[in-house]
Amino acid sequence: MNHKSKIVPINAPRDFAINELFFSTTDRKGIIASGNGVFARVSHYPIKEMIGKPHNTIRHPDMPRAVFKLLWDYLLAGKPIAAYVKNMASDGRYYWVLALAAPVEDGGFLSVRFKPSSELFAIVSEV
Ligand SMILES: Cc1cc2nc3c(=O)[nH]c(=O)nc-3n(C[C@H](O)[C@H](O)[C@H](O)COP(=O)(O)O)c2cc1C
Repeated sequence: MNHKSKIVPINAPRDFAINELFFSTTDRKGIIASGNGVFARVSHYPIKEMIGKPHNTIRHPDMPRAVFKLLWDYLLAGKPIAAYVKNMASDGRYYWVLALAAPVEDGGFLSVRFKPSSELFAIVSEV
């Protein structure tokens, strides 16, 4: 089941630490194949519930479509891409990450994320 249509965004962040890396992998269609505990905790879903769901389950309505167009253009061309992404947890709260996504050997994709910390992020998150 895709939960995103039922969730009302709340203007409050979900917190995580600078040293908490999270990752998820998908198949070539963006269906989640695996993820770690930090990903599940911050997204506020049991990991078992996330596996098999489309990655847009955590899409935040504030995110411009063009970012995902670029992400998919790069990944399907076999290239890695990094992007700031605002996601929505199951409780409606948001969290920002810097995500580095890349094709992996099994034909799917891996995204590793961490907490944004550079000065550039302050500019990105305002637009
Ligand atoms: C490896 C990988 C990781 C992704 N991570 C996210 C993510 O964290 N948040 C997100 O909204 N979309 C993520 N996406 C993109 C989604 O698959 C989807 O394109 C996006 O949420 C837009 O969905 P929509 O076209 O239904 O609006 C990821 C895709 C891949 C391949």
